[in-house]
Amino acid sequence: MEKVLLNDENSLPALGFGTYQATEEEGTRAVQMALDNGYRLIDSAAKYENEVAVGKGIKKSEVDRSEIIVTTKLWRDQLGYKTAKAAFETSLQKLNLEYIDLYLIHWPANEKNYDNWQQTNADTWRALEELQEDGKIRSIGVSNFWPEHLDALFQTARVKPAVNQIEFHPGYWQPELTQFCQEHGIVIEAWSPLGKGEVLDHAVLTEIAKNHQKSAAQVCLRWIMQHGAIPIPKSTSPKRIQENIDVFDFELSNEEMAQIDVLPQMGFSGELPNHWPDKV
Ligand SMILES: NC(=O)c1ccc[n+]([C@@H]2O[C@H](COP(=O)([O-])OP(=O)(O)OC[C@H]3O[C@@H](n4cnc5c(N)ncnc54)[C@H](OP(=O)(O)O)[C@@H]3O)[C@@H](O)[C@H]2O)c1
Repeated sequence: MEKVLLNDENSLPALGFGTYQATEEEGTRAVQMALDNGYRLIDSAAKYENEVAVGKGIKKSEVDRSEIIVTTKLWRDQLGYKTAKAAFETSLQKLNLEYIDLYLIHWPANEKNYDNWQQTNADTWRALEELQEDGKIRSIGVSNFWPEHLDALFQTARVKPAVNQIEFHPGYWQPELTQFCQEHGIVIEAWSPLGKGEVLDHAVLTEIAKNHQKSAAQVCLRWIMQHGAIPIPKSTSPKRIQENIDVFDFELSNEEMAQIDVLPQMGFSGELPNHWPDKV
């Protein structure tokens, strides 16, 4: 699979595999199936409560550990220097691994929840930098950080985030944030790349799909990759796991890209980094 180079010299596959809501046996089977079908980037998080299942799927697959990029994330209630370090160790144990390839701060501390959100994010980041220095994490990054959170982090960070994982799908794709990150050498990973399946009936997507003899889901994933971002679709269905990785044999035209860019808001999660824990 094509690779995307990170600012720390590591690289990620151009497409990954999501595991939100894939728990226990289902999650283990899905991860194993994904690896056996060629996926090499697995996304999980402490919050998904599936790290044990994901770890088992990795062990059960035929794929060598060194070929797999394992991602997990620090949940919101563990922000801070000491808590981040402890939470990381818990994740490592649950995944039953020696190291994590990509560790992300799941959501930034924000003004609404913290008196000094800048300090909280800075302290958390320092913990990640140290874990990386210790060799326990290969790449460190963030998720759901807006420019205000990144600019504040840049004030004290010794290591620049390699990745920002954000909501990105037709109908809600945060182009200004994407541009900001790309200008700073931060790779975008696209979460809910299929808008949780809610955008797939839109006529523009189904029409473009028909023209390429592909599915609307495949068009979403291709559109994201052609924007330079890494989609991480989730599926527990064998057929759809295969379908979602079969996106390297066609290309969208500039006109098709532009048509998808301007689709009206749909599939939006309602989750905003400056607003959590409430939705908008
Ligand atoms: N950082 C964050 O804050 C954050 C937030 C949300 C998600 N994420 C990550 O991003 C991953 C993906 O996002 P997501 O799970 O929210 O949504 P998604 O990948 O956009 O959509 C998943 C949904 O679409 C269905 N689906 C998958 N492939 C399909 C296809 N080819 N055709 C039709 N339907 C299809 C799945 O059902 P089946 O399983 O039945 O196929 C599931 O219901 C998550 O799993 C998680 O790892 C991160």
